[in-house]
Amino acid sequence: MTFPPIRTAVFPVAGLGTRFLPATKASPKEMLVVVDKPLIQYAVEEACTAGIEKFIFVTSHGKAAIEDHFDANPSLEEMLARRGKTAELAIVRSAQLAPGQAVFIRQQVPLGLGHAVWCARHMVGNQPFALLLADDLILAQKPCLSQMMEAYHQLGGNVAAVMDVPPEQVDRYGILDVLKDDGVHVQAKDVIEKPVLGKAPSHTAIVGRYILQPEIFQILGQQQTGTGGEIQLTDAFPALIKDMPFHGVRFTGKRFDCGLKEGWLEANLAFASTRPDLKEHLLSVIEKYYEVRAQQ
Ligand code: G1P
Repeated sequence: MTFPPIRTAVFPVAGLGTRFLPATKASPKEMLVVVDKPLIQYAVEEACTAGIEKFIFVTSHGKAAIEDHFDANPSLEEMLARRGKTAELAIVRSAQLAPGQAVFIRQQVPLGLGHAVWCARHMVGNQPFALLLADDLILAQKPCLSQMMEAYHQLGGNVAAVMDVPPEQVDRYGILDVLKDDGVHVQAKDVIEKPVLGKAPSHTAIVGRYILQPEIFQILGQQQTGTGGEIQLTDAFPALIKDMPFHGVRFTGKRFDCGLKEGWLEANLAFASTRPDLKEHLLSVIEKYYEVRAQQ
């Protein structure tokens, strides 16, 4: 069986990012930098590699920097060209999306992830789409969304990236109630948003990458608020699962929760350690701090 290719991706970028204040006072949390690139650019590049051609950003007040980041910057480009800084010019241009490729819509009220996704319904239309949460940064040889595309072309339906988490962390994630598990593909019979410890049906947790069928929009449009008084995306999955399969993909790679300072710090170390220009310096700095700690 063949399934329609996924060419559209939604990026919910309306959240406030209060955990990172004051960094996020006047700058979107998705523009937080890991090494030298904003989180949202990592997500967009992952989507490009997986074949995405249309990029829908669900933004809110104060997020204009995201729109500017993926636009041309004529004065900067002209200045770099004039000074012969060709490498820097290529870097600036690589962050630019082609004319008409990016769509920016507003979530006017912060009603939750499910509501943000629903806001994109007219722009997505009646086709399956990818959904990427830029807070979840994934270091992988083959990008996570590309791994999920392979699973989608095998299985169809809805697909989410999953990983196994320690029991005490189940209340941070959407957790799968597992029907079948072959080690990589995990079919769910239910998904529960942030269950309390002891009530979780498994330890298999959703990470912020999804491939979803457009039927989700109708469910989200009728949905009541859930955990935290918000319209939760996960709460739409049980109704979706009644009509079509929902699979988790245990991706190969390491995910960093860049919505938390600890995860963001670790991501900086992990990504810098893959960079030939930074690795040696990074390791010598770490050794220095290690010595400081040993002396304390
Ligand atoms: C969201 C989803 C949750 C998912 C998580 C992955 O939660 O609601 O199901 O497991 O992203 O990062 P949030 O982190 O926005 O609270």
